[in-house]
Amino acid sequence: MNNPKIVSGFSKLSKRGKLRWLAENFFNNPEEVARELKSFWYGDPQKQKIFDEFSENTISNYYLPYGICPNVMINNEVYCVPMVIEESSVVAAASSAAKFWLDRGGFKTEVISTKKVGQVHFEWQGDGKKLQHLMPQIRQQIHADTAHITCNMKKRGGGIVDIKLVDMTHLEDNYYQLNISFETCDSMGANFINSTLEEAARILKNFMSTQAGLNQKERELTIIMAILSNYTPECLVRASVECKVEELGTFSDGDMSAETFAYKFEKALKIASIDTYRATTHNKGIFNGIDSVVIATGNDFRAVEACGHAYAARDGQYRSLSFCEVKDGVFSFWLDIPLAIGTVGGLTNLHPLAKRSLEMMGNPTANELMKIIATVGLAQNFAAVRSLVTTGIQKGHMKMHLMNILNHLEATEKEVKEAIIYFADKLVSFTAVREFLQLLRTAPYGMQLPTPILLYNEKSMRK
Ligand code: MEV
Repeated sequence: MNNPKIVSGFSKLSKRGKLRWLAENFFNNPEEVARELKSFWYGDPQKQKIFDEFSENTISNYYLPYGICPNVMINNEVYCVPMVIEESSVVAAASSAAKFWLDRGGFKTEVISTKKVGQVHFEWQGDGKKLQHLMPQIRQQIHADTAHITCNMKKRGGGIVDIKLVDMTHLEDNYYQLNISFETCDSMGANFINSTLEEAARILKNFMSTQAGLNQKERELTIIMAILSNYTPECLVRASVECKVEELGTFSDGDMSAETFAYKFEKALKIASIDTYRATTHNKGIFNGIDSVVIATGNDFRAVEACGHAYAARDGQYRSLSFCEVKDGVFSFWLDIPLAIGTVGGLTNLHPLAKRSLEMMGNPTANELMKIIATVGLAQNFAAVRSLVTTGIQKGHMKMHLMNILNHLEATEKEVKEAIIYFADKLVSFTAVREFLQLLRTAPYGMQLPTPILLYNEKSMRK
């Protein structure tokens, strides 16, 4: 087949070769495309090499904004937290919530548990009780024969915590699991867990094949797979805030009392707990905060997201991950979230900015980072729900949206000022902003302009 879009041996091409092939076969302006993609290469080739080697078939770097959220007080310690996110308003919202709670005692956090889980999935034909009976020996064998993998982790206080046999034959014929739990200290531990599991699978198979007391069939055990589980409900952290209702202050420029706010906020949380449509958006807001810190610290946001959503559905219905209670005049708001993250190993030490992120937060342990990440999730959630039950979120969003459109249309500083006043009480859309600028740019002196423009012009003329 002579299709230029199909390639073989692509991975063996040099980086420039890959880029050229892509530009020539998928774009009408290959020179320009190649130049643009190259313009995002790191200036220092040694540093660029680090990025190239994170992944495969790398041709350029994809930039995202790296922002910071200051004033995050957690258990009386103040942090400046890095956030990598493309969505406008998220960093602003987290920062505003951090400041709000800084003035009310800050956030409290606690790590509830830190266990991670892996599974060896296998088939075995025989009486499950027989297998259960062999478990003490299997356990001992796995502990002993994985020691070459686990010894360093053990020295750091981690390793295999527990090995359980799970009989799944009621769901699938002959299907069993070894459920192995781990402590991985400051590392996320994915490689450590997977290596240990694959070794445990070999040990199990070998153990069974050499059991004299078993018949031929029972000695044959089929390993299906061995892999960590990203569902880590026992790697759990809680972040919370609390203050007297009256200390919440007023909202919507003084139009909403603290009591009304607390009532509506609590209701909004209740709705997110009982309605899946709302819960999904509510939790998405939490993950706006969580993911941005997870990414900034070089952790695996897909793992964190997958686990968080599974946890949100743990009782069979997808629900909010955060809760609110207003009782005896006290407003309490908290988030329970499983977070399997690390501060050593993986990208955390390889990505120059992930390294800086950790340094910025005082090189936290994994437990401390769990607390920081959960706090930003809660802060983000507070800011989102506060907007929703007061002004609505569009007010804040529209300002950023307007600025983005104005930048795109290359508005001057003066035009930006005019636009901000004009759109203060109007819906922002690309067309509306373009028409507004056209009018502003072409209107002859003295022409009847929309009132806000006149107001601004009059004011600026008076200055
Ligand atoms: C937008 O990215 C996130 C929100 O929709 C979250 C929420 O509705 O709670 C504002």
